[in-house]
Amino acid sequence: MIRFEQVTKRYPDGTTAVDGLSFEVAEGELVTLVGPSGCGKTTTMMMVNRLIEPTSGRITVGGEDIARVDPVRLRRRIGYVIQQVGLFPHRTVLDNTATVPTLLGWKRARARARAAELLDLVGLDPKTYGSRYPEQLSGGQRQRVGVARALAADPPVLLMDEPFGAVDPVVREQLQDEFLRMQEAVRKTVLLVTHDIEEAVRLGDRIAVYGAGRIEQFDTPGAVLGAPATSYVAGFVGADRGLKRLSVTEIEPDDLEQPLVARPDEPAERALDRLRAEGARWAVVLDADGDLHGWVGIDELAAGGTVGALAHRMTAWVPVGAPLKQAFGVMLQYDAGWVAVLDGARFLGVLTPAKLHEALRRSVDADALGVARGQVRFDSVADA
Ligand SMILES: Nc1ncnc2c1ncn2[C@@H]1O[C@H](COP(=O)(O)OP(=O)(O)OP(=O)(O)O)[C@@H](O)[C@H]1O
Ligand SMILES: [Mg+2]
Repeated sequence: MIRFEQVTKRYPDGTTAVDGLSFEVAEGELVTLVGPSGCGKTTTMMMVNRLIEPTSGRITVGGEDIARVDPVRLRRRIGYVIQQVGLFPHRTVLDNTATVPTLLGWKRARARARAAELLDLVGLDPKTYGSRYPEQLSGGQRQRVGVARALAADPPVLLMDEPFGAVDPVVREQLQDEFLRMQEAVRKTVLLVTHDIEEAVRLGDRIAVYGAGRIEQFDTPGAVLGAPATSYVAGFVGADRGLKRLSVTEIEPDDLEQPLVARPDEPAERALDRLRAEGARWAVVLDADGDLHGWVGIDELAAGGTVGALAHRMTAWVPVGAPLKQAFGVMLQYDAGWVAVLDGARFLGVLTPAKLHEALRRSVDADALGVARGQVRFDSVADA
C-alpha cells in the first residue's frame, strides 16, 4: 500500500534527514517508526502526503507514484495526526473533527454528523465535548480529537506522528488500547511514529527501528526484541528486551505440559491411587468433552467420595493465544507453579515457569529460522 524506494531527503542546509530509505507497508498493516529524536521519522511521514518532497527516490501509495498525484487529491486519501496534535484553538471540538470533510465540500450537516460519530468512536461523547474548545480538554482528550479528525473522511491510509505522546503513561496505555480496538474494526494502513519502544512493540504489526536517517531493522516486534539485527538496535530496545518479548509472544498449544486427568464421576480412591502411582501432587478435572471442571489435590482425595465433589474451581487460567506475560502475571498473582491454558472452556494443558521459558527461547529460534515455533527442536533450545 505504501512503498518507499531508495528515498533520500536532504534539506537545503545540507542536513540529510533520511538516506536511501526502502520499505513497504501492506494494506491494513500498522507499522511503527521508532527511533531517537532527529532520526528522520517526521520527515519520512511528511513525504507520504507530500508536505515534504524527497530529494531522490520514489514513493508509491496504492501503486501510484505520488510525485504524479495532485497533493490535494493525495491528502484526501491520507489521514494525518500531527505531532503535538495541532487542533485549531478557535474552533470547537466538533468543528475541528469535521475539518477535512468540510474541506472536501461535504454539506455542513453531514460533516457534523460524521464528526459526532467519530468523537463517539474515540470515546468522547459529542454532546458533552463537541461544543468545547481544545483548551477545555485534557491532554488525552485532545489526542483523541486528533485521531478522530484524521479519521473523519475515512481515508484508507493514516499517518500518526506521536499521536499519544503528550500524556502520562496510564492514559497513554488506555489510548493505545482504544486505538488497537478501533484499528481491528477499521483496518487502515497506518504509519505511526513514536520514540518509545514499548509503544512501538505494543502497536506495530511490524516495526521500523531508525538510526540516524536509516532503518536499522524492519521486522515484527518479536523479531526485533528476540533477534536485534545490529548492536544499535539491541541497545535501543534495551537490556530488558527478553521481558518485553513476553508481552508479544503468544501461548501456543505446543508450549503446554499435560498433567494427570481425573473425571468428576471417578471415585476419589481410584484417582488417589493413580496420582500416587505417577508421583503427582494434583490432577486436572475434566468432563468427558475435555471441558475444565477444576483441579484436585492429593490430600483432598483421601476424604473419599467422587472427584467432582472434591474438585476446586480453577482460578489460575489464561486463554490460548494470550501473551506469555499474562500467564506469568497469573502465576505470580496466585503464587502458582502452573497456569491452565484454555480454548474457550476446553482445557489444553498447563504452562509452567520452565515451559514458559522454553516457549520464549523457542520463539526466538523460530523467528530467526523463519519456522513455526513447534518446529524448533527442544534440544536446540537446551543446547543454546
Ligand atoms: N526544514 C528543515 N531544514 C533543515 N533540517 C531539518 C528540517 N526539518 C528537519 N530537519 C532535520 O532533519 C532531521 C530529521 O528531522 P525529523 O523531524 O524528521 O526528526 P524526528 O525523527 O521526527 O525527530 P523527533 O522525534 O524529535 O520528532 C533532524 O536532524 C532535523 O533537525
Ligand atoms: Mg518528529
